[in-house]
Amino acid sequence: SDPLRLGIAGLGTVGAGVVKIVRQKSALLAERAGREITISAVAARHRDKDRGVPLSAYAWEDDPVTLATRDDVDVFVELMGGSDGPAKAATEAALKAGKDVITANKALLAHHGQALAELAEANGAVLRFEAAVAGGIPVIKALTEGLAGNEITRVMGVMNGTCNYILTRMEDGGLTYEEAFAEADALGFLEADPELDVGGIDAGHKLSLLAAIAYGTQVNFAGVELEGIGNVTIDDIRQAADMGFKIKLLGVTRMTGRGLEQSMAPCLVPAGSPLGQLQGGTNMVVLEGDQVGQIVMRGAGAGEGPTASAVMGDVMDVARGLRASTFGQPASALRATNTAQATLP
Ligand code: HSE
Repeated sequence: SDPLRLGIAGLGTVGAGVVKIVRQKSALLAERAGREITISAVAARHRDKDRGVPLSAYAWEDDPVTLATRDDVDVFVELMGGSDGPAKAATEAALKAGKDVITANKALLAHHGQALAELAEANGAVLRFEAAVAGGIPVIKALTEGLAGNEITRVMGVMNGTCNYILTRMEDGGLTYEEAFAEADALGFLEADPELDVGGIDAGHKLSLLAAIAYGTQVNFAGVELEGIGNVTIDDIRQAADMGFKIKLLGVTRMTGRGLEQSMAPCLVPAGSPLGQLQGGTNMVVLEGDQVGQIVMRGAGAGEGPTASAVMGDVMDVARGLRASTFGQPASALRATNTAQATLP
């Protein structure tokens, strides 16, 4: 069959990682998908930057909207980030042109996911975003495919590696919040706007997407009760430790008779539990279904390889002809929901 031709906008860590996989694993991918995966064109802000991967074989576009609508692009891969601006404009342009879109952009989806998914449906396109939640952990595919026969009763998780890194370093390294933050910064973990990380916003974006998928409801980021880690002190962490607990930036969402609970806030978790033992920049998602019981998924929530891995999973879905909605049901059928104040898990 015909090759699946990608147009990739954004050549940061994740974009470069995707290009590397497409180049280095082309035979394996073609074997698995039954067709070749190719790159037609790329777009990024700085053309001459060395990204550790050859790009000369691909057309270069300065404008992501032009890239997204090129005739030789079947799938627009959006890896620029940002909840509005070029990422949104190019995603809309691609969908309106009937092109499939794969994105890692949690902020874009948390704010505009409902409208974008409806736009995709209206134009016969699919919108996939496995990489937007918990990086390399294929949690969206677990919910929409493997657990499709369950009613999901609760989703919990640590979904921001930066915050988990900071809290872990405060605990085991005795660092102050400021020192641990500086370390995370030096390691390149922080988002361009660090408040997205430490304010719990990034993790809240991800939780709102999982809640929509888990319960068939419209994405409701405004309904997430948010509290960041900026006020957590070493004393808090020590007192928690004395009682056998750790402090984690934990997301919890449940559907109740009163409405949808979504909370992302520092929580006490038992030190010996899987969540309590989660160290460093790692993510963990706990899924509970009425048939399957509890499933714990742990892995890298950020970084080149893990995030590109999730993007490629979506590329392979599209290459194999999977057209189902990433929300687990048609976007137009997602229910509006009222927000219930979260109670303790
Ligand atoms: N800043 C995010 C994190 C990156 O630390 O988890 C992945 O979304």
